[in-house]
Amino acid sequence: MTDAGRRQNTLPYLGFCYHSAFAKRGVLLPTRILSGSAIRDQIYAELSSEISALASAGIRPGLAAVLVGDNPASKVYVNSKIAACEKLGLASIQVAPPATITTSQLLAIVDDLNRRDDVDGILVQLPLPSHVDTKKILEAVDPAKDVDGFHPLNVGHLVAGRPTLVPCTPAGVMELLRRSTIPLDGANAVVVGRSDIVGKPMALLLMHANATVTVCHSKTRDLPATVRRADLVIAAMGRPAMITADYIRPGATVIDVGINRVTDPSQAENFFANFPERLAEFRAKSTALVGDVHPDVAGIAGALTPVPGGVGPLTIAMLLSNTVKASRLRRGLRTPTAVAVQR
Ligand code: GUN
Repeated sequence: MTDAGRRQNTLPYLGFCYHSAFAKRGVLLPTRILSGSAIRDQIYAELSSEISALASAGIRPGLAAVLVGDNPASKVYVNSKIAACEKLGLASIQVAPPATITTSQLLAIVDDLNRRDDVDGILVQLPLPSHVDTKKILEAVDPAKDVDGFHPLNVGHLVAGRPTLVPCTPAGVMELLRRSTIPLDGANAVVVGRSDIVGKPMALLLMHANATVTVCHSKTRDLPATVRRADLVIAAMGRPAMITADYIRPGATVIDVGINRVTDPSQAENFFANFPERLAEFRAKSTALVGDVHPDVAGIAGALTPVPGGVGPLTIAMLLSNTVKASRLRRGLRTPTAVAVQR
């Protein structure tokens, strides 16, 4: 079968497609598709019983989301976070000041949320307008309510390997790797992207899990060769389909953190050339989501997260998990040992 034929025969969103690690020797190995949605559902089931136990004790954890201005992507993310709270029975408060808000006005909102007893977790959706001092705002959030894990105190705890509130996307990736039994001990992990939200905390978590970690960025020399050495690739640079099949060592695990909206037909033709159903969907809707990893990597990787349905759902699951955890810690309650989410 030709490469294109093999890919057309694949069902990457149903669990497996075939990678070419051994194709030259006439053996086709399946690329395992790591479904974040399935793992999200497991985490929700565990959180639901924890939330019920707290409800019996008269406690309803609450999350406050601050959405400044009307950035459409941020609106979608915050709405998804609020909807997830409602689904699991957490209380939620949305505060949506206009984009013209000043740093000191936003500090006053954060201060109010810090004081409210019905608020266990506070998230300030990023990015903030450029005139707002983002660092000042993030430092103003009570570290005990910092469910994003962005406060310098919590970042310091993470660096030191102490228990803390961990940023949601990297925490979600770790849950996905752990529950998919991807080996990390001694693995060569390459993180592409060095953001405060994903790349840096991701590298720390992998290091704490005994991986040998390389962090790459826009100035990295010979990025493809560096990424090709990886047993585990975490793509988190926000560049649509940049990690192409030639970056990937056959059989490697590839975690795609990117969520990019594609509207350019010529880009879509390139990305989905081997995925006729996705191309047809793009042509029907004139839009599609693609990760930072080119879809053709599905023919090379040993395991791969899809976009959508990979890391995205876990980011929200970990936000709810952090909110429940913050509500317990604030009340001096211990983490229940029965809960599988590692905290
Ligand atoms: N913007 C992009 N990702 C995130 C996130 O994880 N948390 C917040 N607060 N803003 C974001």
